Amino acid sequence: MSAERHEYDVIVLGTGGSGLRAAIAAAEAGARTAVVCKCLLGKAHTVMAEGGVAASLGNVDPADGWETHFQDTMFGGKYLNNWRMAELHAREAPDRVQELERWGAVFDRTPERKMSQRAFGGHTYRRLVHIGDRTGLELIRTLQDKAVHSGIDVFMETIVTRLVKDGDRVTGMFGYHYATGAQVAFACRSLVLATGGGGRIWRVTSNSQDCTADGHALAYEAGADMVDMEFVQFHPTGMVWPPGVAGLLVTEAVRGEGGILRNSEGERFMERYDPKRMELSTRDVVARSIYTEVKEGRGSPHGGVFLDVSHLDPAYVKMRLPSMYDQFYELAGVDITKGPMEIGPTCHYFMGGIRVDAETGQTIVPGLFATGECSGGMNGANRLGGNSLSDLLVFGRRAGTSAAQAASDAPAPRLPEAELALAAAELGGFLTGDGLTGPAEDPYRLHRELQTVMGDGVGIFRDEAGLETAIGRLHELEARAANLRAPSARLDYNPGWRLCREVRNMITVSLQIARAALMRAESRGAHSRLDHPRYDDYWSEHNILICGDGGEMTLEARPVVTSDELTELVEARQEAERV
Ligand code: FUM
Repeated sequence: MSAERHEYDVIVLGTGGSGLRAAIAAAEAGARTAVVCKCLLGKAHTVMAEGGVAASLGNVDPADGWETHFQDTMFGGKYLNNWRMAELHAREAPDRVQELERWGAVFDRTPERKMSQRAFGGHTYRRLVHIGDRTGLELIRTLQDKAVHSGIDVFMETIVTRLVKDGDRVTGMFGYHYATGAQVAFACRSLVLATGGGGRIWRVTSNSQDCTADGHALAYEAGADMVDMEFVQFHPTGMVWPPGVAGLLVTEAVRGEGGILRNSEGERFMERYDPKRMELSTRDVVARSIYTEVKEGRGSPHGGVFLDVSHLDPAYVKMRLPSMYDQFYELAGVDITKGPMEIGPTCHYFMGGIRVDAETGQTIVPGLFATGECSGGMNGANRLGGNSLSDLLVFGRRAGTSAAQAASDAPAPRLPEAELALAAAELGGFLTGDGLTGPAEDPYRLHRELQTVMGDGVGIFRDEAGLETAIGRLHELEARAANLRAPSARLDYNPGWRLCREVRNMITVSLQIARAALMRAESRGAHSRLDHPRYDDYWSEHNILICGDGGEMTLEARPVVTSDELTELVEARQEAERV
């Protein structure tokens, strides 16, 4: 093996907000820490959480507190959340946001010079701390600045294709440098996955090219189990026109600031779907409502609906939503202070992910931790806007601290040569065609086909027949993916080479999503079954776990992790929703 070698106490894979926050915590705890990412530092889906970070500071609405934030998160997640995670998140978010401000983050202010907080769907109070509509960007900027001054080593443009195990324990990972094709092996005592989601499984998505569910697939292959994979969030508002930017996020802050949704007949259609919350209903409800309006023939010219802020003061719009103003003006030729935007649902976030311990982010595989969007449990069946940023701060810190603690007790990491040889053979085979058992498959074509299968059968609305068809097609794609070969054999900056492994990852994770969606015979949160349109009592108390032990994907219903101390809060909220 001629791979370049590196060894650390803690390695974090992924440099979005959760990865950076984990790395800062690990370094602060004294661990020799590195971050590895497949893009350049600073390019992360975190920036697509534009409208704010949710924390019950009570700056604008003093009645807010962690209990209400917890209740809102549970209600939004349709009570399938891991209760302890939802509690920790609500309790710790205010401290994490204040800490961020001490580290240099700049937020908009109230007239009293407190951090400003705005309304978002499903949040009882104005709770989202923000800077215009660029909050995720500010988080990344601040965390990156803090991380590079914490003595962390950074490996950019490094594509990881396999986790390496020594016996039961994850001891490192294998990959290559995108710029040169040179192989690299990393050894570590603790590995934290912070790889984000997999929006690229769908054609219309707010996610960047990098979001290919790598961490989900790598962890699963290493023996971790997954939870809630059937719950994929379609953000209600993405751009629908022009085609080159279809899916680009239109922040929920537009509705938070008073934006109104209308169909082609001028109706404020949310009156029909959620008259109480209207445009600020939860994302699952708004996305379904828009989809239904379009399907029933009341859509806009390009297959969306209208979102309008032109009734607001233009100066206010430009101050509170500067990116949205620029985005529509530059990309669609629309001045949003004068006319409506055309928008429609776009795949945005995975609620499901690698199952972790609430306190530590530890997976069931020794040495392996996960945090942020690639981990599951916190958001249940549907995530509230703004909870992604607070989630990554709270659980990123916890995972980094725990990984460092575990590293101090862990044995020196060993990378078995046989494991590295297997990984190298897979990577090389994508270029050379060695080991193919049939005609070579083009990764771009397979990716396109995957997006069609998932769009047709595993979208916002699902049913048994559609899911069964999708699963059959996914198994065919899985078999064909054994023969993937990059169209070009160049070593430097070869996107087709990289996509070979990404397509395998996306097919594995698509199967998890489709099979869990078939098993959950009810509608709940982001999972809508046309053939089972209501809640089901059994499923209201069960998560679906997926594991791949021995190469066979198995699914199991498991009771939701509840907590006696929180029962009163949960029941109070359920009661309030009944009246
Ligand atoms: O709409 C948004 O600004 C997105 C926020 C989020 O996903 O949390």
